[in-house]
Amino acid sequence: MLVLGIETSCDETAVAVVSDQAPRVRSNLVLSQLAEHRPYGGVVPEIAARAHLDHLDGLIARALAEAGVGFDALDAVAATGGPGLIGGVIVGVMEAKAIALACGLAFIAVNHLEGHALSARLERDVAFPYLLLLVSGGHCQLLRVEGVGRYRRLGTTIDDAAGEAFDKGAKLLGLGYPGGPAIERAAEAGDAARFSLPRPMLGRPGCDFSFSGLKTALAHRAGSGALDQIDRNDLAAGLQAAIADCLIDRTRNAITLSAGVKTLVTAGGVAANRTLRARLKALADEAGLEFAAPSPALCTDNGAMIAWAGIERLRHGLTNGLDFAPRPRWPLDPDAPPAAGAGVKA
Ligand code: KG4
Ligand code: ZN
Repeated sequence: MLVLGIETSCDETAVAVVSDQAPRVRSNLVLSQLAEHRPYGGVVPEIAARAHLDHLDGLIARALAEAGVGFDALDAVAATGGPGLIGGVIVGVMEAKAIALACGLAFIAVNHLEGHALSARLERDVAFPYLLLLVSGGHCQLLRVEGVGRYRRLGTTIDDAAGEAFDKGAKLLGLGYPGGPAIERAAEAGDAARFSLPRPMLGRPGCDFSFSGLKTALAHRAGSGALDQIDRNDLAAGLQAAIADCLIDRTRNAITLSAGVKTLVTAGGVAANRTLRARLKALADEAGLEFAAPSPALCTDNGAMIAWAGIERLRHGLTNGLDFAPRPRWPLDPDAPPAAGAGVKA
C-alpha cells in the first residue's frame, strides 16, 4: 500500500509518501510558513490558506519525485479533513479530491488528531489499546486509544493547550515563535528552581488540564523591565518544569483509569520536548508500562502521519466520498462532553 499524505491545517504545508512496507516513509517534506506569519506575531488564517495554495502543487511533485513514484503507483490520497484553520483544510482536501478523481484513487479524510494519535505506530508496532497524551499547539488531551477511529477521552484542557502555554510564554519572554523549541533551548541553561510558578490542577482528581494561570504568573514574575539572559533562561526553565509537572500529574491519574493498557504514548508537537519525553518514560517505568513516542520530526505537524493514518484507515476499508465536507472542529471522541472553559477547541 502506498499513500500520499497532505497536511494543511495550520501553518505548515506538508506532503509525504508512505508505504506499509519498509522503508515506510518514502518522502516527507514540510514547508514552514514562519516567514510569512512572523511580521504579525502569530498565524494569520487567510495568509496561511493562500500560502498552502501557492506551495502545495510543487511540494506534491517533489514528494513524489523523492519517493521515485508517479500518481499511478499510489493506492490512495489522504488529506487532513480537520480540525484546523478552515481555509487551509479546504485547500488540502480539494487538492486530494482532485488527484483522487483524476487518477482513480481512494480519498481519505484524516482527522488531524488521529494523525497524531496513530503516529507512534508508524515507526514501531504499538498494540491497541494504549494511553495517549496528545499535546500540540491546539490540543491537550489524554485519550484511551482502542483502535483506528475508536477513542475515549479521559481528560482535556479547560483553557489553553500545552503548546499554547509554551508559545505564549516564549512571546512574553521575547523568545519568538514557535515557542516550544525556543523555551526548550533557553531552559537548558536555566535554573528551574529560581522562580516559583504555579502548577494548575496538580493533585486534583481527574485528568483535565489548565494552563492559562501559568501564563499570568509568568508575566508577573517577568515584570515589566527588560530581562537579561539569565532571567530569561531561568524563567524558561521554570515554565518548562511547571508544564511538565502538570502533564505528568494528569497522566499519572489517567494511568490509574487505564486497565488493560500496556503502553503509554505521547504525540503532537510538544511531545518533541526532551524533558517531557524523559519524564514520561520515567512515569511509564514506574507504572510498569512501555513508553513510545514518535521521533521528534514526526511529533510536529507533518504529512507522513496523515499518510500513515490513511494507511491504517484503508486497511479497515475506511475511505471517504468526494462529498466530504472539511470540518473546522472534529473531536476524536464524539461522546465526550464539551470542555468547560472559554477558548477551548475540543
Ligand atoms: O502538533 P503541532 O506541530 O501543531 C498542532 O497541531 O498544533 O504542535 C505545535 C506546537 C507548538 O505550540 C510548539 O511550540 C510546540 O508544539 N512544540 C514544542 C516543541 N516543539 C514544538 N513544545 C515544547 N518543546 C518542543 N521541543
Ligand atoms: Zn498537529
